[in-house]
Amino acid sequence: MGGWSAEREVSLSSGKGIAEALESLGHRVTRIDMGRDVAARLAEAKPDVVFNALHGTPGEDGSVQGMMDLLGLTYTHSGLATSVIAIDKILTKNQLVPHGIPMPGGRVVKSAELFAGDPLARPYVLKPVNEGSSVGIAIVTADGNYGTPIGRDVEGPWQHFEELLAEPYVRGRELTTAVLGDRALGVTELRPKSGFYDYDAKYTEGLTEHIFPAQIPDEITEACKSIALEAHRLLGCKGCSRADFRWDDERGIDGLFLLEVNTQPGMTPLSLVPEQARHTGMSYPELVQAIVDAALQ
Ligand code: DAL
Ligand code: MG
Repeated sequence: MGGWSAEREVSLSSGKGIAEALESLGHRVTRIDMGRDVAARLAEAKPDVVFNALHGTPGEDGSVQGMMDLLGLTYTHSGLATSVIAIDKILTKNQLVPHGIPMPGGRVVKSAELFAGDPLARPYVLKPVNEGSSVGIAIVTADGNYGTPIGRDVEGPWQHFEELLAEPYVRGRELTTAVLGDRALGVTELRPKSGFYDYDAKYTEGLTEHIFPAQIPDEITEACKSIALEAHRLLGCKGCSRADFRWDDERGIDGLFLLEVNTQPGMTPLSLVPEQARHTGMSYPELVQAIVDAALQ
Protein backbone atom coordinates (compact mmCIF):
# COMPACT_ATOMS: atom_id res chain seq x y z
CA MET A 1 0.00 0.00 0.00
CA GLY A 2 0.97 3.66 -0.15
CA GLY A 3 3.83 4.16 -2.55
CA TRP A 4 4.60 7.50 -4.13
CA SER A 5 2.03 7.99 -6.88
CA ALA A 6 -0.45 10.86 -6.88
CA GLU A 7 -2.92 8.27 -5.52
CA ARG A 8 -0.84 7.52 -2.40
CA GLU A 9 -3.58 8.56 0.02
CA VAL A 10 -6.19 6.54 -1.86
CA SER A 11 -3.92 3.50 -1.69
CA LEU A 12 -3.33 3.93 2.05
CA SER A 13 -7.10 3.98 2.52
CA SER A 14 -7.56 0.87 0.32
CA GLY A 15 -4.71 -0.87 2.15
CA LYS A 16 -6.11 -0.12 5.59
CA GLY A 17 -9.49 -1.62 4.70
CA ILE A 18 -7.93 -4.67 3.08
CA ALA A 19 -5.51 -5.35 5.97
CA GLU A 20 -8.32 -5.08 8.52
CA ALA A 21 -10.51 -7.40 6.46
CA LEU A 22 -7.73 -9.97 6.12
CA GLU A 23 -7.11 -9.85 9.88
CA SER A 24 -10.84 -10.25 10.57
CA LEU A 25 -10.65 -13.44 8.48
CA GLY A 26 -7.82 -14.75 10.65
CA HIS A 27 -4.92 -14.12 8.24
CA ARG A 28 -1.58 -12.87 9.50
CA VAL A 29 -0.85 -9.56 7.77
CA THR A 30 2.36 -7.58 7.34
CA ARG A 31 1.57 -4.04 6.22
CA ILE A 32 4.18 -2.53 3.93
CA ASP A 33 3.98 1.16 3.02
CA MET A 34 5.95 0.88 -0.18
CA GLY A 35 9.27 2.70 -0.41
CA ARG A 36 12.38 2.06 -2.50
CA ASP A 37 13.27 -0.80 -0.16
CA VAL A 38 10.11 -2.72 -1.03
CA ALA A 39 11.90 -5.71 -2.60
CA ALA A 40 14.00 -6.28 0.53
CA ARG A 41 10.97 -5.91 2.77
CA LEU A 42 8.95 -8.40 0.72
CA ALA A 43 11.83 -10.86 0.68
CA GLU A 44 12.04 -10.58 4.45
CA ALA A 45 8.28 -10.94 5.01
CA LYS A 46 8.12 -14.12 2.83
CA PRO A 47 4.35 -13.81 2.31
CA ASP A 48 2.14 -16.60 0.96
CA VAL A 49 0.39 -13.91 -1.05
CA VAL A 50 1.02 -10.20 -1.61
CA PHE A 51 -2.22 -8.22 -1.61
CA ASN A 52 -1.33 -5.39 -3.96
CA ALA A 53 -3.27 -2.35 -2.74
CA LEU A 54 -1.24 0.16 -4.75
CA HIS A 55 -2.78 2.56 -7.26
CA GLY A 56 -1.02 4.39 -10.08
CA THR A 57 2.71 4.19 -10.74
CA PRO A 58 4.67 2.09 -9.98
CA GLY A 59 2.21 -0.31 -8.28
CA GLU A 60 -0.35 -0.53 -11.09
CA ASP A 61 1.88 -0.07 -14.14
CA GLY A 62 3.75 -3.37 -14.23
CA SER A 63 6.88 -2.25 -12.35
CA VAL A 64 5.91 -3.76 -9.01
CA GLN A 65 4.42 -6.77 -10.80
CA GLY A 66 7.73 -7.40 -12.59
CA MET A 67 9.65 -7.05 -9.34
CA MET A 68 7.35 -9.57 -7.67
CA ASP A 69 7.73 -11.95 -10.62
CA LEU A 70 11.51 -11.79 -10.14
CA LEU A 71 11.12 -12.45 -6.42
CA GLY A 72 8.90 -15.44 -7.19
CA LEU A 73 5.97 -13.99 -5.21
CA THR A 74 2.29 -14.71 -5.68
CA TYR A 75 0.27 -11.50 -5.86
CA THR A 76 -3.28 -10.32 -6.36
CA HIS A 77 -4.73 -8.66 -9.48
CA SER A 78 -3.21 -8.49 -12.94
CA GLY A 79 0.30 -9.44 -14.01
CA LEU A 80 3.09 -7.49 -15.66
CA ALA A 81 1.99 -7.28 -19.31
CA THR A 82 -1.65 -6.52 -18.53
CA SER A 83 -0.67 -3.80 -16.06
CA VAL A 84 1.67 -2.11 -18.54
CA ILE A 85 -1.10 -1.90 -21.12
CA ALA A 86 -4.07 -1.09 -18.89
CA ILE A 87 -2.39 1.80 -17.01
CA ASP A 88 -1.75 3.49 -20.35
CA LYS A 89 -4.95 4.85 -21.87
CA ILE A 90 -3.43 4.88 -25.36
CA LEU A 91 -2.08 1.33 -25.28
CA THR A 92 -5.48 0.27 -23.93
CA LYS A 93 -7.28 1.82 -26.91
CA ASN A 94 -4.81 0.21 -29.31
CA GLN A 95 -5.53 -3.15 -27.73
CA LEU A 96 -9.32 -2.91 -27.43
CA VAL A 97 -10.65 -0.79 -30.30
CA PRO A 98 -9.58 -3.25 -33.06
CA HIS A 99 -11.72 -5.83 -31.25
CA GLY A 100 -14.81 -3.64 -31.54
CA ILE A 101 -14.83 -2.19 -28.02
CA PRO A 102 -16.31 1.32 -28.32
CA MET A 103 -13.94 3.96 -26.90
CA PRO A 104 -13.76 7.70 -27.64
CA GLY A 105 -11.36 8.72 -30.40
CA GLY A 106 -8.81 11.39 -29.73
CA ARG A 107 -5.12 11.94 -30.00
CA VAL A 108 -1.95 12.36 -28.03
CA VAL A 109 -0.75 15.91 -27.60
CA LYS A 110 2.47 17.31 -26.22
CA SER A 111 1.51 19.56 -23.34
CA ALA A 112 3.51 22.38 -24.98
CA GLU A 113 1.13 22.18 -28.00
CA LEU A 114 -1.75 23.32 -25.82
CA PHE A 115 -0.43 26.86 -25.81
CA ALA A 116 -0.90 26.97 -29.58
CA GLY A 117 -4.63 26.32 -29.36
CA ASP A 118 -7.22 23.60 -28.98
CA PRO A 119 -6.04 20.14 -30.09
CA LEU A 120 -9.65 19.07 -30.80
CA ALA A 121 -13.00 20.74 -31.31
CA ARG A 122 -14.55 21.70 -27.97
CA PRO A 123 -15.81 20.19 -25.78
CA TYR A 124 -12.94 17.82 -25.11
CA VAL A 125 -11.12 16.19 -22.20
CA LEU A 126 -7.41 16.37 -21.51
CA LYS A 127 -5.97 13.68 -19.32
CA PRO A 128 -2.63 12.27 -18.36
CA VAL A 129 -1.99 9.02 -20.18
CA ASN A 130 -1.30 6.98 -17.05
CA GLU A 131 -2.86 8.49 -13.94
CA GLY A 132 -5.86 7.40 -11.90
CA SER A 133 -8.58 8.95 -9.75
CA SER A 134 -9.03 11.85 -12.23
CA VAL A 135 -5.69 13.38 -11.19
CA GLY A 136 -4.70 16.02 -13.75
CA ILE A 137 -7.91 15.91 -15.81
CA ALA A 138 -9.39 18.97 -17.50
CA ILE A 139 -12.69 19.25 -19.34
CA VAL A 140 -12.50 22.04 -21.88
CA THR A 141 -15.88 23.42 -22.94
CA ALA A 142 -16.98 26.31 -25.12
CA ASP A 143 -16.91 28.71 -22.18
CA GLY A 144 -13.85 27.59 -20.21
CA ASN A 145 -12.20 24.64 -18.56
CA TYR A 146 -13.03 22.65 -15.47
CA GLY A 147 -10.64 20.65 -13.37
CA THR A 148 -6.91 21.15 -13.77
CA PRO A 149 -6.20 24.67 -15.08
CA ILE A 150 -4.47 24.97 -18.43
CA GLY A 151 -2.03 27.76 -19.08
CA ARG A 152 1.54 28.85 -19.07
CA ASP A 153 1.69 29.26 -15.32
CA VAL A 154 0.37 25.83 -14.46
CA GLU A 155 1.97 24.34 -11.42
CA GLY A 156 1.06 21.07 -9.81
CA PRO A 157 0.37 17.82 -11.60
CA TRP A 158 0.45 19.10 -15.19
CA GLN A 159 4.04 20.17 -15.12
CA HIS A 160 4.96 16.48 -14.84
CA PHE A 161 3.17 15.43 -17.98
CA GLU A 162 4.90 15.86 -21.28
CA GLU A 163 2.18 14.03 -23.15
CA LEU A 164 -1.55 14.12 -22.67
CA LEU A 165 -4.49 12.38 -24.20
CA ALA A 166 -7.12 14.63 -25.77
CA GLU A 167 -10.52 12.95 -26.20
CA PRO A 168 -13.87 14.30 -27.36
CA TYR A 169 -16.03 14.90 -24.27
CA VAL A 170 -18.93 12.47 -24.07
CA ARG A 171 -21.88 14.35 -22.60
CA GLY A 172 -24.36 12.46 -20.45
CA ARG A 173 -23.80 9.94 -17.71
CA GLU A 174 -20.98 8.31 -15.75
CA LEU A 175 -21.27 4.52 -15.36
CA THR A 176 -19.03 1.83 -13.94
CA THR A 177 -18.93 -1.97 -13.86
CA ALA A 178 -16.85 -4.22 -11.63
CA VAL A 179 -15.58 -7.56 -12.88
CA LEU A 180 -14.73 -10.28 -10.42
CA GLY A 181 -13.35 -13.41 -12.04
CA ASP A 182 -15.70 -14.20 -14.89
CA ARG A 183 -18.62 -12.18 -13.55
CA ALA A 184 -19.64 -8.57 -14.18
CA LEU A 185 -21.28 -7.44 -10.94
CA GLY A 186 -23.59 -4.74 -12.30
CA VAL A 187 -23.70 -1.08 -13.28
CA THR A 188 -23.49 1.91 -10.93
CA GLU A 189 -24.28 5.44 -12.06
CA LEU A 190 -22.24 8.19 -10.43
CA ARG A 191 -23.97 11.54 -10.10
CA PRO A 192 -21.68 14.20 -8.68
CA LYS A 193 -23.70 16.88 -6.88
CA SER A 194 -21.71 19.55 -8.72
CA GLY A 195 -19.06 19.66 -11.43
CA PHE A 196 -17.74 16.32 -12.66
CA TYR A 197 -16.64 13.07 -10.98
CA ASP A 198 -13.22 14.40 -10.06
CA TYR A 199 -10.85 13.46 -7.23
CA ASP A 200 -12.86 15.29 -4.56
CA ALA A 201 -16.16 13.94 -5.82
CA LYS A 202 -14.68 10.44 -5.73
CA TYR A 203 -13.29 10.50 -2.20
CA THR A 204 -15.38 12.97 -0.18
CA GLU A 205 -18.44 11.46 1.43
CA GLY A 206 -21.67 13.02 0.22
CA LEU A 207 -20.32 14.74 -2.90
CA THR A 208 -21.51 12.05 -5.33
CA GLU A 209 -24.70 10.04 -5.45
CA HIS A 210 -24.08 6.36 -6.30
CA ILE A 211 -27.10 4.72 -7.93
CA PHE A 212 -27.13 0.93 -8.06
CA PRO A 213 -28.49 -0.55 -10.14
CA ALA A 214 -28.18 2.36 -12.55
CA GLN A 215 -31.60 3.51 -13.79
CA ILE A 216 -30.80 2.98 -17.45
CA PRO A 217 -32.29 0.78 -20.19
CA ASP A 218 -31.55 -2.96 -19.89
CA GLU A 219 -29.76 -2.77 -23.22
CA ILE A 220 -27.21 -0.32 -21.77
CA THR A 221 -26.77 -2.35 -18.57
CA GLU A 222 -26.13 -5.50 -20.58
CA ALA A 223 -23.74 -3.67 -22.91
CA CYS A 224 -21.71 -2.31 -19.96
CA LYS A 225 -21.47 -5.78 -18.46
CA SER A 226 -20.46 -7.49 -21.67
CA ILE A 227 -17.94 -4.77 -22.63
CA ALA A 228 -16.42 -4.86 -19.12
CA LEU A 229 -16.05 -8.64 -19.31
CA GLU A 230 -14.68 -8.58 -22.83
CA ALA A 231 -12.17 -5.82 -21.99
CA HIS A 232 -11.08 -7.75 -18.87
CA ARG A 233 -10.53 -10.81 -21.06
CA LEU A 234 -8.82 -9.02 -23.96
CA LEU A 235 -6.38 -7.27 -21.61
CA GLY A 236 -5.72 -10.49 -19.70
CA CYS A 237 -6.84 -9.05 -16.35
CA LYS A 238 -6.77 -11.30 -13.34
CA GLY A 239 -8.97 -11.40 -10.26
CA CYS A 240 -10.71 -8.09 -10.28
CA SER A 241 -10.99 -5.03 -12.52
CA ARG A 242 -13.36 -2.13 -13.02
CA ALA A 243 -14.48 -0.66 -16.33
CA ASP A 244 -15.48 3.02 -16.43
CA PHE A 245 -17.91 4.35 -19.05
CA ARG A 246 -19.57 7.50 -20.32
CA TRP A 247 -23.01 7.17 -21.87
CA ASP A 248 -24.59 9.87 -24.00
CA ASP A 249 -28.23 9.08 -23.24
CA GLU A 250 -29.42 11.04 -26.27
CA ARG A 251 -27.68 8.59 -28.61
CA GLY A 252 -28.87 5.23 -27.28
CA ILE A 253 -26.44 2.35 -27.59
CA ASP A 254 -24.26 4.35 -30.01
CA GLY A 255 -23.53 6.79 -27.18
CA LEU A 256 -21.87 4.24 -24.89
CA PHE A 257 -18.06 4.48 -24.60
CA LEU A 258 -15.57 2.63 -22.44
CA LEU A 259 -13.08 5.12 -21.00
CA GLU A 260 -10.65 2.76 -19.35
CA VAL A 261 -10.09 -0.42 -17.36
CA ASN A 262 -8.67 -0.16 -13.83
CA THR A 263 -6.61 -3.20 -12.89
CA GLN A 264 -6.15 -2.12 -9.24
CA PRO A 265 -9.57 -0.63 -8.50
CA GLY A 266 -10.00 1.34 -5.29
CA MET A 267 -11.01 -0.48 -2.11
CA THR A 268 -11.69 2.61 0.03
CA PRO A 269 -14.94 3.10 1.99
CA LEU A 270 -16.37 5.06 -0.97
CA SER A 271 -15.01 2.79 -3.69
CA LEU A 272 -17.22 1.18 -6.28
CA VAL A 273 -16.07 -2.43 -6.50
CA PRO A 274 -16.77 -3.11 -2.78
CA GLU A 275 -20.08 -1.31 -3.14
CA GLN A 276 -21.17 -3.41 -6.13
CA ALA A 277 -19.99 -6.54 -4.35
CA ARG A 278 -22.10 -5.61 -1.32
CA HIS A 279 -25.16 -5.08 -3.51
CA THR A 280 -24.69 -8.57 -4.90
CA GLY A 281 -24.54 -10.07 -1.40
CA MET A 282 -20.78 -10.19 -0.92
CA SER A 283 -19.31 -8.46 2.15
CA TYR A 284 -16.06 -6.49 2.00
CA PRO A 285 -14.06 -9.31 3.71
CA GLU A 286 -15.62 -11.86 1.32
CA LEU A 287 -14.54 -9.73 -1.64
CA VAL A 288 -11.01 -9.43 -0.26
CA GLN A 289 -10.87 -13.21 0.23
CA ALA A 290 -12.18 -13.77 -3.32
CA ILE A 291 -9.37 -11.59 -4.70
CA VAL A 292 -6.81 -13.55 -2.67
CA ASP A 293 -8.31 -16.86 -3.85
CA ALA A 294 -8.03 -15.72 -7.48
CA ALA A 295 -4.33 -15.00 -6.92
CA LEU A 296 -3.79 -18.51 -5.54
CA GLN A 297 -5.50 -20.26 -8.46
N1 DAL B 1 -7.64 4.59 -9.58
C1 DAL B 1 -8.62 4.37 -8.53
C2 DAL B 1 -7.98 3.83 -7.31
C3 DAL B 1 -9.72 3.50 -8.98
O1 DAL B 1 -9.75 3.17 -10.14
O2 DAL B 1 -10.56 3.13 -8.18
MG1 MG C 1 -8.54 4.95 -13.58
